[in-house]
Amino acid sequence: MESNAKSVRLDSLTKVFIGPGNQQVVAADNVSLTINPGDLVTFLGPSGCGKTTTLRMVAGFENPTSGRVFIGGRDVTSLPPNERDTAMVFQSYALFPHMTVGENVAYGLRFRNVSKEEKEERVRRIMELVGLSGFESRQPGQLSGGQQQRVALARSLVVEPQVLLFDEPLSNLDAKLREQMREEIRRIQTELSITAIYVTHDQSEAMAMSDRIVVMNHGRIEQEGTPREVYSEPGSKFVADFIGRVNFLPGKLTGEADLSDERAAEMASWLEAGRTLYEVLIFDRRLLVEGQDSLAQVAGATSGRVLVVCRPEAATIAGANESISPDAHVTGRIVKAMYFGSHMEYGIVLEGGSEFTLIDFNPAKSQPLSVGDTAGLRFDEASLHALPEGR
Ligand SMILES: Nc1ncnc2c1ncn2[C@@H]1O[C@H](COP(=O)(O)OP(=O)(O)OP(=O)(O)O)[C@@H](O)[C@H]1O
Ligand SMILES: [Mg+2]
Repeated sequence: MESNAKSVRLDSLTKVFIGPGNQQVVAADNVSLTINPGDLVTFLGPSGCGKTTTLRMVAGFENPTSGRVFIGGRDVTSLPPNERDTAMVFQSYALFPHMTVGENVAYGLRFRNVSKEEKEERVRRIMELVGLSGFESRQPGQLSGGQQQRVALARSLVVEPQVLLFDEPLSNLDAKLREQMREEIRRIQTELSITAIYVTHDQSEAMAMSDRIVVMNHGRIEQEGTPREVYSEPGSKFVADFIGRVNFLPGKLTGEADLSDERAAEMASWLEAGRTLYEVLIFDRRLLVEGQDSLAQVAGATSGRVLVVCRPEAATIAGANESISPDAHVTGRIVKAMYFGSHMEYGIVLEGGSEFTLIDFNPAKSQPLSVGDTAGLRFDEASLHALPEGR
C-alpha cells in the first residue's frame, strides 16, 4: 500500500453540548493542534475530558460548535464522515456476527468502485498485515477478543484511509493481549506510514505507542509533546500527576545555577531550548533543578516558592539507620516496603511529614530495608523538574 499520509490540523475546535436541564457542557474548549503526516498522536486524559468528542469531530460524527478541521490542508469541517478519508476503530469491535471475517473486512469496500479481483487482493493483503491469513471464512464469534479487534482494524484499513482514528480500541482486552495489540497497531501504523489519532486514558499505552501525546483536561489541551517531554518536563501539576507516579517536593528557588561550576555546566549542557538550570533549596539542601526559562519570574511573584517534581525512580537510598551516608539529601522513616522482584517500592515519611514513594530497581543488588528503618535519600538532580507553585 502506498503511503498517502496527511497532516491533521484542528483550529480552535469547540463543542458545547446542551445537557439535561438545558445546562451547557463544554466538551471541547478551543482545541488547536497540528499533527504531522505519519505521526501517531494520543489524546490522553481522565474520563469526561473531551477525548472522544474531539476525535468524533475529526471523523465528522460530531459538528463543532465553532472552529475548523483540516486534513491534508483541506478544510473538511462541513464534509460528512465518508468524504473525509478517515476510518475509525472502536472499543466495541462492531463486527457483523452473521458475516464471515472476510466479508466483514470487505464490507468497507462495498460503496467503493473496486473490481471483484481488486477487492479480493486488498482483503488478502490486509488479512496478512494483521496476521489473520486463513481466518477469512470463520465467523467473528469463533475468534478471540484480540483477533476480533484485528478484524475491526483490517476493516478500517482496507479502505486505505488517510487518517486512522482509534477510540480506546483495546480496553476490552486483558492486560497481556493489550500490550501485544498495541505493539501490533503501532507496527502496522508505521509500516503503512498512516497518520493516526489514538484515544486512551491508559498512560502507559500512550507512552509506549505515541510519537506525541496530547494531555487533555476539562476540554482543553494541558500539554502537548513527546512522551519524554510530558513525563520529564510536565508543564503543570495535573500533567505530572496524570502521567506516571510522582512525588512533589516543596522548594525555594534562590536563583540560576552558577555555570562556572563544572557540575552545573555539565548538567546545563543537557538542557533543551527554553530550559534553565536553577538553584533550589529542598529540605535546606542546595540542589540544581531544571525548569522553564520563565520560572524565576513566575516563581519570583510568589516569593520564590516552587514545586519540584521527583519521580519514584529519581531518588536512591543513601544508607540506613546508623550508617546514613553524608551524601543523603534528606532522611525519612520507612512505612511501606513492597517487593516486586524487578523492583522494590518504599513508602518513606520525610522530615516535614509528607510520604515519598521511592522505587529501587534491581533490588537484588542491595540489602532490603524494612518498615521502621530510617533511611537516607538522595535525589538525582538531573531528573528533577521545577514547576511554579500553583500550576
Ligand atoms: N451527546 C452528548 N450530550 C451531552 N453531553 C455530552 C455528549 N457527549 C459527551 N458529552 C459530555 O461531554 C464531556 C466530554 O465527553 P467525552 O465523551 O468527549 O469524554 P472522554 O474524554 O471521551 O471520556 P471517557 O474517557 O469517559 O470516554 C463529558 O462531560 C460528557 O458528559
Ligand atoms: Mg471517550
